[in-house]
Amino acid sequence: MNLKELAAHVAAEFQKHYGRPPRWIVAAPGRVNVIGEHTDYNDGFVLPMAIERYAIMAADAASAPGKISIYDAHFKESATIDISAPVTKGQPKWSNYIRGVLAGFQNRGVKIPALEVAFMSTVPLGGGLSSSAALEVCTATLLEAATGKTIDPVEKALLAQKAEHDFAGVPCGIMDQFISALGREGHLLLLDCRTRQTELVPMSAPSVALLVINTNVKHELGSGEYAKRRAECEQAAKILGVASLRDATADQLEKAKGKMSEVVYRRARHVIGEIERTVHAAEGIRQSNWPTVGQFMYASHAALRDDYEVSCKELDVVVEIAEEIGFRGGVYGCRMTGGGFGGCCVALVKADSVAAITKKIAADYKARTGIEAAIFASRPAAGATIIKG
Ligand code: GLA
Repeated sequence: MNLKELAAHVAAEFQKHYGRPPRWIVAAPGRVNVIGEHTDYNDGFVLPMAIERYAIMAADAASAPGKISIYDAHFKESATIDISAPVTKGQPKWSNYIRGVLAGFQNRGVKIPALEVAFMSTVPLGGGLSSSAALEVCTATLLEAATGKTIDPVEKALLAQKAEHDFAGVPCGIMDQFISALGREGHLLLLDCRTRQTELVPMSAPSVALLVINTNVKHELGSGEYAKRRAECEQAAKILGVASLRDATADQLEKAKGKMSEVVYRRARHVIGEIERTVHAAEGIRQSNWPTVGQFMYASHAALRDDYEVSCKELDVVVEIAEEIGFRGGVYGCRMTGGGFGGCCVALVKADSVAAITKKIAADYKARTGIEAAIFASRPAAGATIIKG
């Protein structure tokens, strides 16, 4: 479903549930990260793009004060959130992404109006495509529409990130919420996570496409491995005497190798290398040098698999198949994307080979893992938008 169809669909769901048409419709996209993995919380660079998959909300003011009612039109489940007092964590679990954003607005002194909301998402859940960031940014966008007060998109991304930290318990970096809030159609976003400066990198060449390959192995960041990686990076930075790994060079790391455990050394090697690869890959995209970009993607995957140890068998299988198809078959590069431990790969491919590559990856992946993959191409989409209101 494209965004227009999705908007019509969620509006119809709102009408069915609440008996009147919605006053506002807002959406925020999921993302795929082209390169720059596990670099955001090390003050490095990331290069994500918003995908044509969205969290979308239709809403109207509610007559009963003091609460927000949310109807999940896909799972047919409702949540009620009390906004007459500081918003706290609660049930159902998914409501916490929304609760966290409401709390963030309350902390900014915003008086939140009572609302009735119908909500849907086409971002695969647990697929490493930032379904939670899309939901957070979508909620923040709804509150902007409903209060008539816009907030700076960078502030909005930070507020959504805080919701993830405080209400979902994932100590994530800033990439996902940034791209969902600031994405621009036809562009990747090169984000310097230290200065928060952004550069829109055009990616609209008709000859190439980005394929998202969902292994359909659930990725779970709450399990503690993510926080563990973060701590290992902080430890490496401390030993190297730098504020963050952004400030360290490969040379410095080699010299200090004896002072840290082998694991911490490998974690730092990935991050330092990945920050460099991201800057080079962005340059490759500016120059439409697709084979070079592809090589950086493969190198990124190898480091995530061997040094950072956040890949899994299924993600590795997808990358192996992509390498076997190779340049001749239209694949420039492929890597796992997002936090890891399941979820998706992203592949840079020739546009005219999309159908053949999709077929081949699906068949080989099924044969080797017994699992059906879900594969789709996406153009770089726009960030959060108010569709009606
Ligand atoms: C998750 C986090 C991001 C980022 C990636 C890894 O998606 O939410 O902040 O750290 O993992 O690059």
